[in-house]
Amino acid sequence: MDRDKIYSKELDCFKAELSSKDFDAFSNFIYSEFGIKMPAVKRIMLQGRLLKRIRHLKMKSYGEYKDYLFSKEGQKEEIFNFLNVVTTNKTDFYREPIHFDFLKSKVLPEFNAKAGHEPFKIWSAGCSSGEELYTMSITLNEYKRENPTFKFSILGTDISQNVLGKAAKGVYPMNKVDIIPLELKKKYLLKSKSKENQTVKVRPELQSSLSLKYLNLMDASYSNITEKFDAIFCRNVLIYFDRATQESVINKLSSHLKTGGYFFIGHSESLTGMDVPLEHIKPTIFRKK
Ligand SMILES: C[S@@+](CC[C@H](N)C(=O)[O-])C[C@H]1O[C@@H](n2cnc3c(N)ncnc32)[C@H](O)[C@@H]1O
Repeated sequence: MDRDKIYSKELDCFKAELSSKDFDAFSNFIYSEFGIKMPAVKRIMLQGRLLKRIRHLKMKSYGEYKDYLFSKEGQKEEIFNFLNVVTTNKTDFYREPIHFDFLKSKVLPEFNAKAGHEPFKIWSAGCSSGEELYTMSITLNEYKRENPTFKFSILGTDISQNVLGKAAKGVYPMNKVDIIPLELKKKYLLKSKSKENQTVKVRPELQSSLSLKYLNLMDASYSNITEKFDAIFCRNVLIYFDRATQESVINKLSSHLKTGGYFFIGHSESLTGMDVPLEHIKPTIFRKK
């Protein structure tokens, strides 16, 4: 048996040993630094996700990994890998499609009617691997085809470098794009030539007005975001935060929204009872007062 096999056998012996004490240390850290709730019922999930890092680093226990992560070196070297494994990045093209319909039928015509030469600015906060960004980009590019003077820019931010890398590549498995209407697929996606690896890549026009940045929504202020936006999507991100954190994040995001700008949240999220400068327009759609 080679060394790696022996090693992985040994690891399997203590696979179940993410102790409550170590779990609490990780859970408190994830909550205080990133706002993400990690209740005790998620201990087995966290254990499974961290095991990948432990194997990769050839460490011997969760305790050893914890000491490394919390060390000065770990906070520099490991923190982004840790974030990649603890965040939930589920996303899709045309997820919650009524938001894109609303963008097309209401937000864009309203903007175009009053705009000078300013581009329309939209931000996806918690953009994950880019499906939301490219759905925005298809919607805005389509609008531009009908309104050639219309200009726009799209910003995507996330805390996970892993998903930001995927968003930058813009390459997706074929089955992920099933939901996109055929006519739009033909216009905006390129099929890979490889028979074994069936993927599509977004065409350059979907990326030309797009920028991506790392941003932790828990930061005291979003000082590396200097613009004000016409619309902000923060969908299926707030759900991981507690109520007080949600309210604080929404207030910080709203300070980057123009008066009259639109704010979109996910369908399982709510702003009811929060002290935020947004008025309710439709379920999950708000406007800056
Ligand atoms: C479930 S995905 C949602 C993606 C997309 N908005 C959608 O609705 O399909 C949530 C994203 O929020 C990001 N996230 C979680 N906590 C964050 C934080 N503190 N700051 C910034 N992004 C965060 C995760 O990395 C993940 O990519």
